[in-house]
Amino acid sequence: MSDRIEISVTVNGQTYQRAAEPRLLLSDFLRHDLELTGTHVGCEHGVCGACTILFDGEPVRACLIFAVQAQGHAIETVENLAPGGPKHLHPLQEAFREAHGLQCGFCTPGFLMTLKPYLEQNPNPSEQEIREALSGNLCRCTGYQHIVEAVKIAAEKIQE
Ligand code: FES
Ligand code: FES
Repeated sequence: MSDRIEISVTVNGQTYQRAAEPRLLLSDFLRHDLELTGTHVGCEHGVCGACTILFDGEPVRACLIFAVQAQGHAIETVENLAPGGPKHLHPLQEAFREAHGLQCGFCTPGFLMTLKPYLEQNPNPSEQEIREALSGNLCRCTGYQHIVEAVKIAAEKIQE
């Protein structure tokens, strides 16, 4: 007998109805059931931040939430930053590209989804504030300096 539970979740403005096992993580639901593989999975226990998504507008770690807990909620993933494709990037994405804020890119979706609401609420952050905002996301490649520079550029772009 299947123990799957029917859920209805809005992801990037589109409502999906799926049957999910109660133990299925939201990160796996997004990646495997909805094929939204922009959300990355690193540690799977809430440390690295690679799986960060917006849950009703708030950044959360999709590896710490079960898919069934998203029932009736609105999710935003990194795919929603540039729905028009690579020629219409979000200012954050443009800034990361300009400032070389990524190398392998594995951490990048998590940084972007952490920073999107942060810059909306803090449009003119100091470098110290940027570093604090990023402190929950791990990057093994960049040394963070280029990411900090990217956030400064993104803040300027968003204010323009
Ligand atoms: S995969 Fe979720 S925090 Fe690392
Ligand atoms: S760019 Fe490789 S982990 Fe951040």
